[in-house]
Amino acid sequence: MSRKPIIAGNWKMNLLKSQAKDLFEGIKDFVKDYSAQELPTVVIAPVFTSLSVVDTVACNCGCEGNKISIAGQNCHWENSGAFTGEVSVEMLKDAGCSYVIIGHSERRQYFSETDEMINKKAKAILAGGLTPIICCGETLEQREAGVTDSHIASQIRAALEGLTNDQIASSVIAYEPIWAIGTGKTCDSDEANRVISMIRKTVEEVSSSDAANSIRILYGGSVKPNTIAEQMSKSDIDGALVGGASLKADSFNEIIANTMKVAIAK
Ligand code: 13P
Repeated sequence: MSRKPIIAGNWKMNLLKSQAKDLFEGIKDFVKDYSAQELPTVVIAPVFTSLSVVDTVACNCGCEGNKISIAGQNCHWENSGAFTGEVSVEMLKDAGCSYVIIGHSERRQYFSETDEMINKKAKAILAGGLTPIICCGETLEQREAGVTDSHIASQIRAALEGLTNDQIASSVIAYEPIWAIGTGKTCDSDEANRVISMIRKTVEEVSSSDAANSIRILYGGSVKPNTIAEQMSKSDIDGALVGGASLKADSFNEIIANTMKVAIAK
């Protein structure tokens, strides 16, 4: 069973269209020198208003652009209707997306997203032929109270509820300890690997060992060019979901380069 690494950039609520275009072009310029086999799966999640400009850059550069996949940062589970401010999977697909990030801690925390909503989103994304990047993670209080594993296992069980083994196998999970997001405090890579192994075991319990061996599980939280090699060297860490360091072409490209140096498909 081999798992291709993923390096995903979550731009969050940053960058105007022209800035998004420049940054995307900076990444495209870097990946053009490598074959799709050499590269990890590279995914970029811009704000909704920059999806079309980024998709145009991707298409304009022929096969080079296809080396970068585009993701939505959120979606609704219905196809269309009276849901002011929301965007559907079909709309994201129409805008060039093949991935959708769901359940990010910022959405759970600031927009009251529940496990049940995240499960509905995962089902809609998979039914629409896209790939969910399902985020999970504990707060500092939960870590200090010793409930990290039970909390994350329950987030994962709820998110995957009712999905087929094949759907689970093709999904992506991102373990992002909340206390490590945007703080510069990276989770120790052995500890991140331990939690990710626990997530993989949980996936096996709710599906099959094949699905658990296939699903790609990323680490996120203050990932930087100088942290990625050690993270990628761990048995169960299949890549990274990068926030701050994805906002500059130099640092994001260095993360991709350092991943290629270490990453043997797992
Ligand atoms: P930082 O890399 O800025 O810590 O953000 C991580 C994150 O939340 C990615 O989704």
